[in-house]
Amino acid sequence: MASSRGEFSSRFGFIMAAAGSAVGLGNIWGFPTQAASNGGAAFLLVYLFLAFSLAYPALMAELIIGRHAHANAVNALRQISPGPVSKRIGATTGIAGFIVASLILSFYAIVAGWMMAHCLASLAHLAGMEDLASWLTEFSFSRNIVFMLIFMGLTIGIISEGVQAGIERWSSRLMPMLLITLVVLTGYVFTLDGASDGLRVYLLPDFERALSPKLIISALGAAFFSLSLGVGTMLIYGSYVSDKENLPTLGGMVTLVDISIAVLAGFLVLPAMYVALHNGVEIFNEAGALISEDTLIFTVLPALFDTMGVAGVVVSLTFFFLMSIAALTSSISMLEVPVAYTIEEHGVTRKKAVLIIGTLIAGVSTVILLNFGQLFGLVIAVTTRYSQPLLGFMLCVYAGWIWHRDSLLQELRKGNAGAEHSLFWKIWPGYVRVVCPLIILAIFAQSLLG
Ligand code: PFF
Repeated sequence: MASSRGEFSSRFGFIMAAAGSAVGLGNIWGFPTQAASNGGAAFLLVYLFLAFSLAYPALMAELIIGRHAHANAVNALRQISPGPVSKRIGATTGIAGFIVASLILSFYAIVAGWMMAHCLASLAHLAGMEDLASWLTEFSFSRNIVFMLIFMGLTIGIISEGVQAGIERWSSRLMPMLLITLVVLTGYVFTLDGASDGLRVYLLPDFERALSPKLIISALGAAFFSLSLGVGTMLIYGSYVSDKENLPTLGGMVTLVDISIAVLAGFLVLPAMYVALHNGVEIFNEAGALISEDTLIFTVLPALFDTMGVAGVVVSLTFFFLMSIAALTSSISMLEVPVAYTIEEHGVTRKKAVLIIGTLIAGVSTVILLNFGQLFGLVIAVTTRYSQPLLGFMLCVYAGWIWHRDSLLQELRKGNAGAEHSLFWKIWPGYVRVVCPLIILAIFAQSLLG
């Protein structure tokens, strides 16, 4: 059954695809920006703690349910439910997940389009086409829609190729490219004046801020968004993993890659901010807060690149290329959620499903662009701040309470001969049942109140 619906061909392929989903704008834009506005190292420490203690166990819930069912989230949650009511709630959760994944893609494609436009703007600068460069970097409906459509077109193209030829092949090519670009760029920024001030902020924690509720909530949201949790992305990727693989190890590697890239991006962005400050670019307001979060990527960094002459154009090109790649390996995982559901539940061919759903999502992005002031922030808040934690909560409840314990343990034994002796076996089943839902509920309650 599994192979007829697509399967990752290798462990490396799965890790690249799942890490590709996890590593995205959230890591390279979201994490460093939040670290910069929330006390640098303090945020880093809280983020690291939460990523390992909450996000990894929740990720495992999704991967294990997916691999057990070898099906999309709707069908998978139905399969592990014992009675009609839990089946119905499970199916509704799965459908809600695919709607949220689609909505995330609708705003993500807009931001990713800006990244691509900035990348091309560097080329336009190099070619001396200044009018084009300003169209590419200035906020306008025409630019926004053109690049959203190009980005959606690329996402649709990759997803219509399927699991191995599309997702796995492209993630395995793009992820190493992303890592190399990030390391080279970080190394370069380290050589510039002012970088060490940024490093200091990033590495010396301000403990008073580490314990503030605002910081903890932001770090939780960041960890959740960063690992693509709640919406069924990891569940569907888990469903393409062979029964021979040891899932806790694979999930651990994906978490490690995701966290490492976020931490590495902090080593790039925070020093870059202070280099910009050193060069007279304004970053902070009088209260010492970041002027604006988008300012960091779309104003501060380009201003920094401008101070570097031709080298700056190359660095800018590389940086925005990196962001575009990171966004693409994430967007394909978002589109796969509704696509897999439509193929499996409605018997539509992959190409047709991708085209119909991709077009619908591009339509939603267009509506957001037409009502940017009202909708952009709202869609981000509703999907990432509220829906992701709530759906993550449901998935942990399904793994911990609804799914028959013996069946769950049997799934854990697959591909893992000595499973019973592992720490994971001893801790995780109880942890995902009690601790994860409680923490998620606490974040959810906090974000509703706050
Ligand atoms: N993890 C991605 C990032 O950090 O940018 C965002 C994301 C991908 C969220 C896939 C949700 C999702 F289903």
